[in-house]
Amino acid sequence: LIRSVGLRRILDSRGNPTVEADVLTESGGFGRAAAPSGASTGEYEAIELPPGEAIASAREHAVPRLVGEVHAGNQREVDAALHAADGTDDFSNIGANSAVAISMAAAKAGADVLGAPLYQHLGGTFRGDNFPIPLGNVVGGGEHAKEATHIQEFLAVPHGAPSVSEAVFANAAVHDRIGELLDERGVPAGKGDEGAWAPTVTDAEAFEIVAAATDDVAEDVGFDVAVGLDVAASELYDADAGVYRYGDVERTPTEQVDYIADLVDEYDLAYVEDPVEEDDFAGFADLTTRVGDRTVLCGDDLFVTNVERLQRGIDEEAGNAILVKPNQIGTLSDAVDAVELATRNGLEAVVSHRSGETEDTTIAHLAVATGAPFIKTGTVGGERTAKLNELIRIAEDAV
Ligand code: PGA
Ligand code: ZN
Repeated sequence: LIRSVGLRRILDSRGNPTVEADVLTESGGFGRAAAPSGASTGEYEAIELPPGEAIASAREHAVPRLVGEVHAGNQREVDAALHAADGTDDFSNIGANSAVAISMAAAKAGADVLGAPLYQHLGGTFRGDNFPIPLGNVVGGGEHAKEATHIQEFLAVPHGAPSVSEAVFANAAVHDRIGELLDERGVPAGKGDEGAWAPTVTDAEAFEIVAAATDDVAEDVGFDVAVGLDVAASELYDADAGVYRYGDVERTPTEQVDYIADLVDEYDLAYVEDPVEEDDFAGFADLTTRVGDRTVLCGDDLFVTNVERLQRGIDEEAGNAILVKPNQIGTLSDAVDAVELATRNGLEAVVSHRSGETEDTTIAHLAVATGAPFIKTGTVGGERTAKLNELIRIAEDAV
């Protein structure tokens, strides 16, 4: 049984406070995990409370339902206790940040008791052979870097890589090559919240640079490296005017779908996330009909890791993939339910970090445990490489 649950405020990668949980079991198992935090958060996500409030509320309501009551290794029971303690359907009482930190820390404590790696505890003994393709954020703007591109993320997609390690290094090579290309053009570039370059270039120039860099690296490494996007279109959408704004350029919802469909063909995009705003299931479905046979169309703000929203997407054939962020829904059980519903219906799962991260590596294990075909967790920067390096270790069976 769980002996204690400790909660504290620690720093995330943006320098903001976030919640860290320590779970200790009576048999001496220990797990520690921290909640990430988004900047371009979806409207329908579970609620993140200010960490101090989330910690106080979880100490009052959740900890007494866990300590001496639940086995850390029984993830369903841990997560049910968190839901019961909260009593709402969006974790607005104890905070999704407290909930997800406790949920992940309990999973690690459960794995520790078993002496098994986390991915195996979560996924079972036959997991660990299928590795996700890492989507590497290499250029970005939007809510993650002001004065950079309107599209939030330009991603390297090393889908021809023979191993996860080669894929991870290919993404890093693309990031490095883009740095050189920006330098050659005399474009100064800082980095955004996720470590991607955040140059002051137009979206069209960014496409040109990223395509050149992925081509160069593909030639070097000898396998295909494609381009992907997270448009994060909800952040561009002006609901009052009913238009998407790319600076001075406006696009109606119909024009937005045309624009994305054209980009898929022009740049052979292997992946497009949130091409339209979070309420536009019909636009998402239209795009799926048009280009869903040749690209991954992934719902992040559209689905928010929520099985009800995902079921609506399945019914309306909106998208063919779901982004899975445990903190969007609050527990690992809910996140796994979303992956399983997606997989049963032929959608691909993309396990993902947030723009605000910590050194926590749970999502690397979650991706392997669920057999997710993709993981999106950045390219460079310690809080990103923590997950990527863990994937390399898991592939080597060295965790
Ligand atoms: P967020 O961005 O963590 O700021 O929400 C990541 C994403 O949109 O995928
Ligand atoms: Zn996104």
